[in-house]
Amino acid sequence: MLSTVARRALAIVFIGLTLTSSVQGSNHPISNDIECPANSHISFVHNSYTYNAPLHKFTEITGSFFNVSWYDNAIVNSTTGTDNVPGAKRSGGFAGAIFNETLTAVEKRSDAYIFSYHGKGFTFIPGPSYPPLRFDGYAETMRFESICGGKATYIDLLSYVCSDNQPLTYTVWSTLHTSSFDGLAQSFGATVLAGDCPQEAHCDKN
Ligand SMILES: *[C@@H]1O[C@H](CO)[C@@H](O)[C@H](O)[C@H]1NC(C)=O
Ligand SMILES: *[C@@H]1O[C@H](CO)[C@@H](O)[C@H](O)[C@H]1NC(C)=O
Ligand SMILES: *[C@@H]1O[C@H](CO)[C@@H](O)[C@H](O)[C@H]1NC(C)=O
Repeated sequence: MLSTVARRALAIVFIGLTLTSSVQGSNHPISNDIECPANSHISFVHNSYTYNAPLHKFTEITGSFFNVSWYDNAIVNSTTGTDNVPGAKRSGGFAGAIFNETLTAVEKRSDAYIFSYHGKGFTFIPGPSYPPLRFDGYAETMRFESICGGKATYIDLLSYVCSDNQPLTYTVWSTLHTSSFDGLAQSFGATVLAGDCPQEAHCDKN
């Protein structure tokens, strides 16, 4: 039996392979390349979470690019293009600033939901004890994968951000990911999957 870590590594390798070849329904290569202006540098933030709830519980809430209320209560005020079709744009309010984001790739399957988007720069105040933070553009990929025979979901986030304050960027983005995904899971009573899949999910048990 593979360890959870080995299974995750295989899942990531598999997804990497499917995304770099041309997959049906998706001929938009995912690019997280962002170019930073002078005095701004790329940071990357990677987070992953695993919860005891099937994939559809998450995608019912996260499955629309035009509705991001689950992501730190961000409000989408205006959209262009067609929801969930690359090239679609959304903008709205976030922490006193205005975000403008463009969907760059999306893949929806019965066992996975993967999308990427680019965002324009904005400055915001991360919290009462923090200085204003400027993001000079960012790109984010989110992957939701069905695991444990459909009983659990693995979520993987990779964010690249141009900023002149990398330590604060890392803290803010990582905190935002954790609070958003834990909050999302809690909203329908899903708990963190701490170790291996539940026993009943194994096919080799008779
Ligand atoms: C956005 O999604 C949330 C959570 O699923 C839902 O409660 C809300 O009604 C949706 N908003 C719009 C404008 O569809
Ligand atoms: C977005 O719409 C909400 C609700 O209509 C409003 O309160 C908010 O000020 C708007 N934000 C922006 C950035 O336009
Ligand atoms: C972001 O979108 C709003 C419209 O929602 C627009 O007024 C604003 O100019 C845009 N900002 C950038 C940097 O494109």
